[in-house]
Amino acid sequence: MPKNPHKPFVIGVAGGSGSGKSTVTRQVVAAIGAENVAVVMQDDYYRDQSHMPPEERCNQNYDHPDAFDWPLMAQHLAALRKGEAIEMPVYDFAAHNRSRETITVKPAPVIVVEGLFALYDTKLRNTMSLKIYVDTASDVRFIRRLQRDISERGRSTESVVNQYLETVRPMHKQFIEPTKRNADVILPHGANGPAVDIITTKVMSLLSNGAQRG
Ligand code: CTP
Repeated sequence: MPKNPHKPFVIGVAGGSGSGKSTVTRQVVAAIGAENVAVVMQDDYYRDQSHMPPEERCNQNYDHPDAFDWPLMAQHLAALRKGEAIEMPVYDFAAHNRSRETITVKPAPVIVVEGLFALYDTKLRNTMSLKIYVDTASDVRFIRRLQRDISERGRSTESVVNQYLETVRPMHKQFIEPTKRNADVILPHGANGPAVDIITTKVMSLLSNGAQRG
């Protein structure tokens, strides 16, 4: 049982690029029910780069912790934990910038924080009751990223390969992979069904035992 039964149950879902974090999150939401879960995607908290010329935006290191607007994400999580709705920014990967729209995220008994650095920051980790690291082989992650960035994020093969070698791979080794040791649960082979089932069963039993907000 969480220590305070009136506080939302916060789950962190971390892992490298292309590891399957979004799939794990989608499966948890589907099992628990969308009305019971507020999802905070760290990708949407990339810094606003409106001040920067578009050609400069393409060359930023998007795999370093400093690429993110941590204060805004912390403020939004604190609000959700207090039972307040937030206006979550929406990131546009093709423009390498925050878009003008926002999404209203309502408070819910479960909060999922999903992103490369979900298990990086100590203060953020301390709010979590369950910390998951999605562990997927780097070749599989690269293939997925190549396919996704070309089909969904407006990138070329050459740009994906260069970015992978210059920043994605070294930053993964330096900053993301080490956060695996902060996890309670490590999911091998990405979003594998039995592991996700165990997690959702546990969360549902906590909810039915009164983990909801009062
Ligand atoms: N990124 C980028 N260009 C930007 C901003 C971010 O290419 N302007 C990339 C970063 O290099 C980072 C990746 O976006 O590696 C983060 O998204 P990723 O974790 O790959 O996507 P998810 O769908 O959240 O994760 P998963 O594939 O695990 O579901």
